[in-house]
Amino acid sequence: MPSTTTLFWLVMCLPHLALAHYRFQELLTPSQSTRTAIRQPTIIDPMLDATSPLMRCNIHTPATETVAIDAGSNIGFKLDNVIFHPGPAALYLGKVPEGQSAAEWDGSGRSWFKIKNWGGVYDPVMWDFEVLNKLQVNATIPANTPSGEYLLRVEQIGLLIPQEPQYYLSCAQVRIVNGGTGKPEPLVEIPGYFAPDDPGLQLDIYHPVAGETYRVCILHSFPPQCFQGGKSKRR
Ligand SMILES: *[C@@H]1O[C@H](CO)[C@@H](O)[C@H](O)[C@H]1NC(C)=O
Repeated sequence: MPSTTTLFWLVMCLPHLALAHYRFQELLTPSQSTRTAIRQPTIIDPMLDATSPLMRCNIHTPATETVAIDAGSNIGFKLDNVIFHPGPAALYLGKVPEGQSAAEWDGSGRSWFKIKNWGGVYDPVMWDFEVLNKLQVNATIPANTPSGEYLLRVEQIGLLIPQEPQYYLSCAQVRIVNGGTGKPEPLVEIPGYFAPDDPGLQLDIYHPVAGETYRVCILHSFPPQCFQGGKSKRR
């Protein structure tokens, strides 16, 4: 017999079937909002193959600009539709290698570090993911990030089908200015930045355990920390 939770999610998801999915399309900085600094995803479907190089910046059209952002500033990504598939989200910075520009770089190599994570808790009858139903996510660029060109990558992992995580992602081309002397580490490669059998990706949201906290230690971060859970919204 399906549990109440399963029924709840079925009902929750039905109205959205026609819309299918969502994309991160706009970058907000304190001085502007831009779509042309984003490598716009050309498909609406999520990435499913976590071993593909397309996990870096999705299937996209080229971005036509690289925008300056002060280290320490608050930035946002806006979507074309709310994030309606439950799951965590994260932001990564990928340092553009010497001699290349953000516009040229394909995101290959061990150059990525995580700067933000949005998790979730089981609270108390369903999973409550911080980004669920958000049309925009905001975060701070760490103040001690070294200046230079980067790809700023946003990723949300839809866990609606157990054991088949869906990856919604976009990259923005940015130039961090007035940066610091931090040493982002450990650096990871995309793909290869997590194990496909990580419990955080294999989570069955329909058979949770009360009090469970979503574990997202799967990905390294700068400054180093092991993210667990997140703020829970009161309903
Ligand atoms: C998100 O960041 C943008 C750019 O700095 C800002 O305009 C906006 O007010 C921020 N929103 C929130 C909720 O912090």
